[in-house]
Amino acid sequence: MAKVSELGYLGIGASDTTAWQALATQVFGMQVIPGDDKATSYLRMDSHHHRLELRSSASDDLEFAGWEVPDAATLQAIAQQLEDGGVKVVAGTRDEADQRRVIGLVKCLDPSGIRTEIFYGHPVNPVPFLPARATSGFKTDGMGLGHILVHVPKLDECVRFYRDLLGFRISDFTDVSTPGGTIRLAFLHCNARHHSIAFIEAPGAPKRLNHIMFEGNSLADVGTGRDICLERGTPIAIDLGCHMNDRMVSFYLGCPSGYALEYGWGARMIDDATWQVEHYASVDSIWGHPQLRTLAGGGK
Ligand SMILES: [Fe+2]
Repeated sequence: MAKVSELGYLGIGASDTTAWQALATQVFGMQVIPGDDKATSYLRMDSHHHRLELRSSASDDLEFAGWEVPDAATLQAIAQQLEDGGVKVVAGTRDEADQRRVIGLVKCLDPSGIRTEIFYGHPVNPVPFLPARATSGFKTDGMGLGHILVHVPKLDECVRFYRDLLGFRISDFTDVSTPGGTIRLAFLHCNARHHSIAFIEAPGAPKRLNHIMFEGNSLADVGTGRDICLERGTPIAIDLGCHMNDRMVSFYLGCPSGYALEYGWGARMIDDATWQVEHYASVDSIWGHPQLRTLAGGGK
């Protein structure tokens, strides 16, 4: 089957784009690239023109996600796969492709309503990425911009959509028993990154986004990012720790749009030849992430 290869870009609606740009540059060292109009700007992380499209919007949430495929033939095959699966697919316009800085794209909605774009041909920026602060950059080569954890009303239908129509593979499932019922999560990969998208079943959640993760090339980048959060008064939502499933060392900070950003390093990677789907009964980390342990009625 045709498969997407990486999370290429995200469209982020933000009511305070100035605060977003300040956080992205000061904490993560992202580079601000002017947009085509006053309402749009881009955040660059690597050789791509951008990885985040920041749009002035009261949504303060995810507006679209762009999944990359290697070529036009794969784009066509994915579009056919989606249509065969009963999903309405619309070709992107030339203007939309230009705004995304890609060669071609198609659009559809995932089962939770996320505007999902499949594209090929991201233009490589001939000007080297210049981090806004001294960092060693982001781990994105062949792995995409990072990962997103999204709240969805029905987890199973999202798993089926991404696995059966976009070619994702399951990394693991987490089912946490709580006094209020079972909290269900699913983690999926489309390349060696442990997960590029994950779902938490949360009907009625006020935002789609739980968090966006960016992986730095060094632990020092993450540690200094945490120092900068403390200095600038950015709230640490979940302090340093190492996740059980992707083994990433990370912390989570609050962003101006009211969800979290995870800054991580050192996650394990997946080899599909040997990977076996794992199952967890807790969101507890191997160490740290103390605030996670108080979720779901308290962990160990
Ligand atoms: Fe994460």
